[in-house]
Amino acid sequence: MTEKKETYYITTPIYYPSSKLHIGHTYCTVMADAMARFKRLTGYDVRFLTGTDEHGQKIQDIAKEKNVTPQEYVDEIVDGIKDLWATMEISYDDFIRTTEPRHVERVQEIFKKIYEKGDIYKGEYEGWYCTPCESFWTETQVEDGKCPDCGRPVKKAKEEAYFFKLSKYQDRLLDLFENNPDFLQPETRRNEMIKFVKQGLDDLCISRSTFDWGIKVPIDEKHVIYVWLDALTNYITALGYPDDPELYDKYWPADIHLVGKEIVRFHTVIWPAMLMSMDLPLPKQVLGHGWLLLEGGKMSKSKGNVVDPVVLIDRYGVDALKYFLLREYTFGQDGVYTNEVMLRRMNFDLANDLGNLLSRTVAMIQKYNGGFVPDSHEENEIDLDLKTIAISAAPKVEEHMNKFEFSVALEEIWVLVRRANKYIDETTPWVLDREEADKERLDTVLHNLAESLRIVSVLIYPFMHTTSGKMRKQLGIWYTEVEWKDALVFDTMSGEQVAKGKQLFPRLDIEKELEELEKMQGPAEEQNIPLELKPEIEYDDFDKIDFRVGTIITAEKHPKADRLLVFQVKMGTETRQIISGVAEDFTPEEMTGKKVIIVANLKPRKLRGMESKGMLMFAENGKRCEIVTTIADDGCVVD
Ligand code: MSP
Repeated sequence: MTEKKETYYITTPIYYPSSKLHIGHTYCTVMADAMARFKRLTGYDVRFLTGTDEHGQKIQDIAKEKNVTPQEYVDEIVDGIKDLWATMEISYDDFIRTTEPRHVERVQEIFKKIYEKGDIYKGEYEGWYCTPCESFWTETQVEDGKCPDCGRPVKKAKEEAYFFKLSKYQDRLLDLFENNPDFLQPETRRNEMIKFVKQGLDDLCISRSTFDWGIKVPIDEKHVIYVWLDALTNYITALGYPDDPELYDKYWPADIHLVGKEIVRFHTVIWPAMLMSMDLPLPKQVLGHGWLLLEGGKMSKSKGNVVDPVVLIDRYGVDALKYFLLREYTFGQDGVYTNEVMLRRMNFDLANDLGNLLSRTVAMIQKYNGGFVPDSHEENEIDLDLKTIAISAAPKVEEHMNKFEFSVALEEIWVLVRRANKYIDETTPWVLDREEADKERLDTVLHNLAESLRIVSVLIYPFMHTTSGKMRKQLGIWYTEVEWKDALVFDTMSGEQVAKGKQLFPRLDIEKELEELEKMQGPAEEQNIPLELKPEIEYDDFDKIDFRVGTIITAEKHPKADRLLVFQVKMGTETRQIISGVAEDFTPEEMTGKKVIIVANLKPRKLRGMESKGMLMFAENGKRCEIVTTIADDGCVVD
């Protein structure tokens, strides 16, 4: 009877097909893939799920702009995403698309279940809506008219809608965070969520009627289901819940939902509350990873500063990119991507350390022993040291992998790689070859090097399986299956015929590569990437605005808000107070005296207790926000 394996279910977020994926997205999928491969190798029955989140207003708007149907638009992008994962040899077991009938039907069943439980009611929603994020925000969450997640402007929206009784689950959620410290990691994310839940949870608006690219609410077809509710359920609809529960029964609850830090709230508050409402078990753990940033800030298509993984893969190979992503960045923290950091890692760790160790070892076995791995003989202290490091690496790698410490796990493997390189320098096989009397010693040294490399080929398998295969081919052990337990034992090799192969990783000329990459990636301005804008408006909407020219008489910091500046602005005969959230971009001194353009008929608003009547015009210029100024006289109408 075969032993029943323990199951391990790991998921990535399902990606928005609103643009091509960049290296930031691949980071999460590469981590999930390494973990899935590691768990398979260490004896688990793994299910690895990824997919795409295809509904929502944003997709509908982009499709309209491009004159195609939303389905046509997503089909093309999703093909590209699947191609990328194929190129990167991502070993997912299932790819779910939220437009697939299997998902659509199951989401409707889930909606009905929550409704029947009495946790969904009809009401009216008025709030601030951020279209790019598909998120509604309350007055207190919105900061100076901007979305608290992405910083882009939000707009007031009101609609009849269905609500989920999220507030009902507040105490159970708090209990979950407090009594289950492992549920959400890292610790900082957990603390943020405890604070968020303690502030009090509002019920959640879970339907929309202002657009229709979504799954219809089963009890009221005028509405579509809120895209996050639709998306979160993918983790169980992909397992066949509720109508075909075979996989669900086997793999749920998930062991890990791997998500970026900005979507932790959806996964640890809304998703568990939905599951609680359905009386289903909660995922065992949600892990919130950090972002890959560029030196100038977050990668974003609209800023035109994304790094395309395909360019890097074409030039350096999948394994080099995977290694870099997993080794360079600390899980949970943000990291800065630069071409130079990546090239250095590839050169030092891969070409120098690993590549050289293999090519030197194979060349020496060929030169000094006719190409066959010799047996070992009497051992000395240096041999024992190498051996101890080699056979103790696997448990250390395992320990760190179980904590998602990819970088530390790889460092442990490189301790062995570097030790083996040093071993060559210490034992000087080329000197041993000179005396017949040293033949046994030489055999032992070559044997130990081959053994160390064999163990490395097992250890790196979850991270770089192709490289592992190439190593095993050169070591003459290509016909044996990679098994984790083999990394725990030394002295298994005898008489294998080695075969010199191509360099695993060619040495890179960093200066030249930097120039080439710059040419390929191009300065952002030359890439002609269309800007990501808010939806088009009609001329009539624009015509409602009354622009005036004014002069800033005084400018000072808002006494209660660091980000706000309070201006007294003179327009013709009238002086009025206008408040703007630009204290981070401008000092009061540099604003005073400036001639500016004002939206003069904007409804007055109170901002942190002070009235603001009108709005100064600022425009986004790349990463900067710039003031719109004029040389005209005060009080002119600007057409
Ligand atoms: N569709 C939602 C997820 C729904 S899951 C039920 C979504 N999609 S996304 O495409 O915008 O983002 C997917 C993931 O990519 C997120 O976890 C996000 O954090 C991650 N990343 C996007 N840019 C990133 C970086 N620059 N760096 C690291 N991860 C980044 O959110």
